[in-house]
Amino acid sequence: MNQHDVVKGWLKDAYAMEESISKVLENHVGDAKGVPMVRDRLQQHLDATHRHADLIKGCLDRMGEDTSARKTGMADISGMMQGMMTGATDDDLVKDCIQDYTTAHMEIASYQALITAAQDIGDRQTVQACQQILNEEIAMQQWLRDHLPMVTEKYLQHAA
Ligand SMILES: [Fe+2]
Repeated sequence: MNQHDVVKGWLKDAYAMEESISKVLENHVGDAKGVPMVRDRLQQHLDATHRHADLIKGCLDRMGEDTSARKTGMADISGMMQGMMTGATDDDLVKDCIQDYTTAHMEIASYQALITAAQDIGDRQTVQACQQILNEEIAMQQWLRDHLPMVTEKYLQHAA
C-alpha cells in the first residue's frame, strides 16, 4: 500500500467515524434536553460533525474515491460505543459526556495521524480540511473537560 492509498483509506475511516458519531450525538442531544447549556453545545457539535463528514467527503471526491467504509477502520468505535451504551438510567447525561470526551480524544488522534500522512504526500487541501476539523474536536474536548464536573454535580444533587 503506497502513501496515497493510506491517506485514502484513513479518509474513508474518518468519514465512517463522523457518520457513526452523528448518530450517537443525536441521542445525546435528546438525553440533554433538561440541561439547555449542554444540549446546545452538543447540538452545535452535531452540526459540526455533519460538516466534518462533508469536508472529508470533499477530500475523497477530489481523489475520485467514494465513501464506502473499509472492513477494518482505523478508528472503529462500534466496540467502544457498546461498552458505553447508556440505558434508561438517570445518569445518562454524565455517561454521555464521558463517552463524548473519549470520542473527541480518539478523533483528535485520528486527525493528527491523517494530517501527518497528508503532509507527507503534499496534499495541502486534505491537510487544511483535517486541521479545521481537528481544531473543532479540540474545542469540544476542552469544553467537555471544563463542564463534566458541572454535569456530574447536577446529577448528584438531583440524586441526593
Ligand atoms: Fe467529529
